[in-house]
Amino acid sequence: MKKLTVLALSISFSAAAMAAPRNEPIQPIEPAPVTDQAKVELGKQLFFDPRLSKSGFISCNSCHNLSMGGSDNLPTSIGHNWQEGPINSPTVLNSSLNLAQFWDGRAGDLQEQAGGPIENPMEMGFTHDLAVGVIASIPQYVESIKSVYKVDKVSINEITDAIAEFEKTLVTPNARFDKWLKGDDKAITAYELEGYELFKSVGCTACHNGVNIGGNSFQKMGLYEEYVTNNPAEGVAGLSGEDADRFKFKVPTLRNVELTYPYFHDGAYWKLEEAVDVMARLQLGRKLEKDEIGKITAFLKTLTGEQPSFQLPMLPPSNNNTPIPVPFAKK
Ligand code: HEC
Ligand code: HEC
Repeated sequence: MKKLTVLALSISFSAAAMAAPRNEPIQPIEPAPVTDQAKVELGKQLFFDPRLSKSGFISCNSCHNLSMGGSDNLPTSIGHNWQEGPINSPTVLNSSLNLAQFWDGRAGDLQEQAGGPIENPMEMGFTHDLAVGVIASIPQYVESIKSVYKVDKVSINEITDAIAEFEKTLVTPNARFDKWLKGDDKAITAYELEGYELFKSVGCTACHNGVNIGGNSFQKMGLYEEYVTNNPAEGVAGLSGEDADRFKFKVPTLRNVELTYPYFHDGAYWKLEEAVDVMARLQLGRKLEKDEIGKITAFLKTLTGEQPSFQLPMLPPSNNNTPIPVPFAKK
């Protein structure tokens, strides 16, 4: 009897050891807690609804395509009237885990962020009033907004809040690396593990750490060597006016990074290997060997998680009261 207990104990110990989360500078991501399903469904419709743009053609999903890692895979986005935007579109996946939104952090949270593109002349080219007018003309939208928010009248606040609630569900758990972090030794290969060991030992984790492997600090791009670009973005200095903030950007998340090419705020690099080489030289003063770059790149590809999966939302139709879109500027 006594022997049996000891055996049972040792089994439960080894099982615990196998499943024990590892103590690493990167933590696994957890599935998003579902808070208010009706709000999320409304936000999902609005995220996909191009009628929030002046042209009736551009939705959030145009530049944050959920079939392409939540980005547009272009150096800089294309907005209203085919205008080329000034900066690369960051992924919306896991963006709720970032300390602030935008490359320079100028929006504190997702709701504040969501108001930006609708009235940005280079993006959706609309105004908040006109966007509210479109939504308020569609009875099905008005009904859902009234029932979810208990308001009499639609305003931009409900629209941006619902979009933000939907965005909070766009997390990508169960990447192979997360499974490894949770104790599954077989989830990544020996080669990928060597890449992770290098990622730590050369110093990438100084900036790319935590649950989002980035997204939790602003850092200067080009610490050891200057980053050469034609892109005029100044980073945080554009907000603060401080010289010390020049070229300081929010450290991007590296989750799903194999899907979110091209890289950096100007989208100048298409190959992940090149981005790794640039980072090592500019941020760490290190020229990596080709095989080291290969290993780190292989590790980065283990960070692709389960992509959001849902039925495409049906959008309620416009009607005779809905303002008609203006796809092109009238000459
Ligand atoms: C025309 C393309 C375009 C459209 C349309 C667009 N975005 Fe963006 N989005 C961008 C670009 C470019 C940035 C980066 C801007 C910057 O940092 O200055 C961005 C940044 C963001 C971010 C910040 C992510 C981060 O990590 O900093 C979020 C979240 C986001 N957009 C959500 C939305 C939502 C919600 C909508 C719809 C209401 C939307 N976007 C519409 C191009 C677009
Ligand atoms: C001192 C902080 C710092 C260190 C160290 C650092 N990074 Fe970065 N990383 C950044 C910043 C800031 C950016 C965004 C720069 C920009 O877009 O101008 C970035 C961007 C990236 C990107 C592009 C992501 C995207 O979506 O555009 C990759 C890939 C990357 N880093 C990988 C690495 C690797 C691999 C290492 C180690 C060799 C590393 N980083 C070390 C701060 C750092």
